[in-house]
Amino acid sequence: MEPVSAAIQTRDLTKQFGDFTAVDSVSFEVRRGEVFGLLGPNGAGKTTLVRMLTTLLPPTSGKAIVAGQDVGRHPTRVRERIGVIPQALTSDLDLTGWENIDIYGEFYDVPRRQRHQRARRLLEMVGLRERANDLVATYSGGMRRRLEIARGLIHSPEVLFLDEPTIGLDPQSRRAVWDLLETLRKESEITISLTTHYMDEAEQLCDRIAIVDHGKIIALDTPSGLKRMVEGADRVDLEIEGDTKAIAEMLKQEPYLREVELDGASRLTLGADDGPHVVPKIIDRVESAGAKVASISVHRLSLEDVFIRFTGRSLRDEPAKKVSFLVGAGMPQSRS
Ligand SMILES: Nc1ncnc2c1ncn2[C@@H]1O[C@H](COP(=O)(O)OP(=O)(O)OP(=O)(O)O)[C@@H](O)[C@H]1O
Ligand SMILES: [Mg+2]
Repeated sequence: MEPVSAAIQTRDLTKQFGDFTAVDSVSFEVRRGEVFGLLGPNGAGKTTLVRMLTTLLPPTSGKAIVAGQDVGRHPTRVRERIGVIPQALTSDLDLTGWENIDIYGEFYDVPRRQRHQRARRLLEMVGLRERANDLVATYSGGMRRRLEIARGLIHSPEVLFLDEPTIGLDPQSRRAVWDLLETLRKESEITISLTTHYMDEAEQLCDRIAIVDHGKIIALDTPSGLKRMVEGADRVDLEIEGDTKAIAEMLKQEPYLREVELDGASRLTLGADDGPHVVPKIIDRVESAGAKVASISVHRLSLEDVFIRFTGRSLRDEPAKKVSFLVGAGMPQSRS
């Protein structure tokens, strides 16, 4: 592999458990400063992929370079350069917020003065300055998550890995975590790899998204690029006063419409690439043909629809089966 300017680079990265291939020859690159999403149903192989990238699991074959270091050859160097925030809440309930961060900084050998300065700044950033000296046992789930993000940043990592950062949080806490990640993206050079089940989260936060299914990346693009891959997927519902059949025939000739279907006596369902922009054109055409538009509405393609097109299933209808790996807490640890 070339000397890297990318934050993450993999080639044919593969993990087998016995006969089962959990991650299947995956190759991709994440640019520095990018927020990169891994989106996929349960069992897709997201966590296994992240565990290889964070040196917690040796690959069966293939290669990965993270923060300029080869995960197989220099796992310790990789660990020094990354922050890992696993899905399970791992902050220590018996310690204060401040102590949790400080101890973590010590693990990473961050010198005391620098550690304390950074801890103060990070606690401020995550909105926990006032609560820093309270035991974590008194924190809400959202506060713990924010504390853990601050903790994961104490050694100034180049790449931050978050596995399902908002699962189990109430909407307000989710929003607070999103705001925090957006601040981080704007105000630092850090690269973020984010695993999520939530479409809105991926869409809101990620520059690019990899859709993972059965151990493979089946699509990788910006959120809008992914949507563009599914053409004609915006739906326009139209109610006509006039000769609906004639109008349907006429609309079939319009190049900006993909499908035109009659739905009852006065209703039409149309497929379009860009729903909102075709609405005025449709109204124009219908009215110039002497009919009237009684109602018109647009249903925009969501990332969820894109996901279903690519994987043939929904993200939501499978119950979450979660295994929490406490070793994923991101502590530097030697792998003998
Ligand atoms: N240590 C292991 N031994 C055997 N099989 C494993 C092991 N770890 C993961 N798997 C299997 O590999 C597949 C991928 O699991 P993984 O946890 O990476 O999926 P995921 O995409 O993170 O799923 P989820 O959304 O549920 O977190 C699953 O079928 C899982 O059962
Ligand atoms: Mg997982």
